[in-house]
Amino acid sequence: MSGPAPPIASPESLPHHVAITMDGNGRWAAARGLTRSTGHEAGLVPVRLCVEECSELGVEALTLFAFSSENWSRPAEEVASLMGLFLSAIDREVDELDRKGVRLRIIGNRQALSVRLQARIASAEQRTAANRGLKLQLAVSYGGRWDIVQAARKLAGECASGRLRPDEIDERRFAGALELADLPDADLLIRTGGERRISNFLLWNLAYAELYFSERLWPDFDRAELTRALQFFAGRERRFGLTGGQLQAPHLPVSQ
Ligand code: IPE
Ligand code: IPE
Ligand code: MG
Repeated sequence: MSGPAPPIASPESLPHHVAITMDGNGRWAAARGLTRSTGHEAGLVPVRLCVEECSELGVEALTLFAFSSENWSRPAEEVASLMGLFLSAIDREVDELDRKGVRLRIIGNRQALSVRLQARIASAEQRTAANRGLKLQLAVSYGGRWDIVQAARKLAGECASGRLRPDEIDERRFAGALELADLPDADLLIRTGGERRISNFLLWNLAYAELYFSERLWPDFDRAELTRALQFFAGRERRFGLTGGQLQAPHLPVSQ
């Protein structure tokens, strides 16, 4: 095991937008002879911790992958228990989120959710809409491909009704039709559970994200591991296609 993580270098080296794929609840539970649902419940502890820590550090946005488009194909019993957990967690946590100044939003295909859950989501979103602290997105019934398709459909509708010309569609406008329209791109993706894949999370918004893969199972994710991920981010040179030399001397004209 690695020792305690060093402190974050400086606020300027913090990511603006952290995205987390919270994976490993099932394996965490199986290792203890518990049900998968118990593993999902245990996953609430690191959710609270990440919200608290990102709020305190002044991270602008945190997007948590809680349930993918593909997770609907899991056993009905597990899906039902996850939906129940979302409902009770939203109800239980909304006061505390509001108190912390967190703005909560759910991203994903909400039509696929029960009417009851949709109503609770709408009321939690309304309640926290004016908050100016951490922007917290919970991705539920979310898929990166679904997001891109719904954006394309929205823009196609505007073209069909004559409000938009196809040649007006550029990257900025397309990004504006996605679920995370008003947020900066995710600049750090953390995935727990040891897998090194995207699993249909934010396909568009991760274009230039730094990727941090943690062997920890999600319920074991703690403050020290989050700090390690932020420290890893702070140590990256983000070149966005430029050369290292250009970054060191940004005032010099770029040679062709
Ligand atoms: C992540 O944990 C939570 C969801 C996908 C809902 P898993 O349930 O995928 O846990 P593992 O990967 O089976 O351990
Ligand atoms: C990704 O985890 C989705 C969430 C964490 C919500 P999965 O466990 O569903 O991913 P795969 O199936 O291993 O790629
Ligand atoms: Mg998994």
